[in-house]
Amino acid sequence: MSSKLEIEKPPVIHASKVTRELKVGSHIVRALRGVNLDIYPNEMVGIIGPSGSGKSTLLGIIGGLDSPTEGTIAIDGVDITRMKEGQLTDIRNRKIGFVFQFFNLIPTLTALENVALPIEFAQQRRRKPFERAKELLDQLGLGGRFHHRPNELSGGQQQRVAIARALANDPPILLADEPTGNLDSRSGENVLEALSAIRDEQGTTVVLVTHDQSLAERMDRVLTLVDGRIEPAKGSGGATTKDGQMRD
Ligand SMILES: Nc1ncnc2c1ncn2[C@@H]1O[C@H](COP(=O)(O)OP(=O)(O)O)[C@@H](O)[C@H]1O
Ligand SMILES: [Mg+2]
Repeated sequence: MSSKLEIEKPPVIHASKVTRELKVGSHIVRALRGVNLDIYPNEMVGIIGPSGSGKSTLLGIIGGLDSPTEGTIAIDGVDITRMKEGQLTDIRNRKIGFVFQFFNLIPTLTALENVALPIEFAQQRRRKPFERAKELLDQLGLGGRFHHRPNELSGGQQQRVAIARALANDPPILLADEPTGNLDSRSGENVLEALSAIRDEQGTTVVLVTHDQSLAERMDRVLTLVDGRIEPAKGSGGATTKDGQMRD
């Protein structure tokens, strides 16, 4: 858990007045309307909000899969707002791991091969792909499942393989879009525990979109998106406001 006594580090994710407009047919949808946020190293932050409130759009922008129409976004102190695709791909590869609701594993590859693949493709390979893949799968409680293919694994196990794959190249930030949305509550619980352990052991910053209030309550902090904006934190109890979630 993050300690208040810790000397404050600069945010690893910084968004300022992020707006995202999308053209749909002849009209404009404003998916995000001036989002400000700061997320600090090693935090585990939940994003909740109704369907269509902009959660996936926000995660995509944080991860450099999409760009804001207005406003700025910085990752590890580097402004990525107007980066060219090549540079953005590089940031994405080095800094970000993604986990989605649907696991998107390659069905013909074993768990081990799925996790080793992004290491084999990495430009600066830090570790031997299969050694690192084994270590990650072990850490995620899948030590006995190296040679299983996705269809020989449960949903929760597949999602943990997907998490291992997302972590293959040691990104400092892990973004997860409803990673438990397709799982029963027990498997969802295992996935959450796996993410917490990774955060504790590797210092990864985790941003998790969820519909599940009971998972959200276990985050260090929860941001609520409504209609493309972050709601001001309620009361003084649970959520903190060190990132100044106020609207201008
Ligand atoms: N590619 C797209 N084209 C058109 N509209 C989109 C697209 N992506 C998202 N939207 C719209 O933007 C809003 C936010 O969507 P999204 O970020 O997916 O919400 P959430 O993840 O909270 O359900 C919604 O109104 C959605 O319909
Ligand atoms: Mg979504």
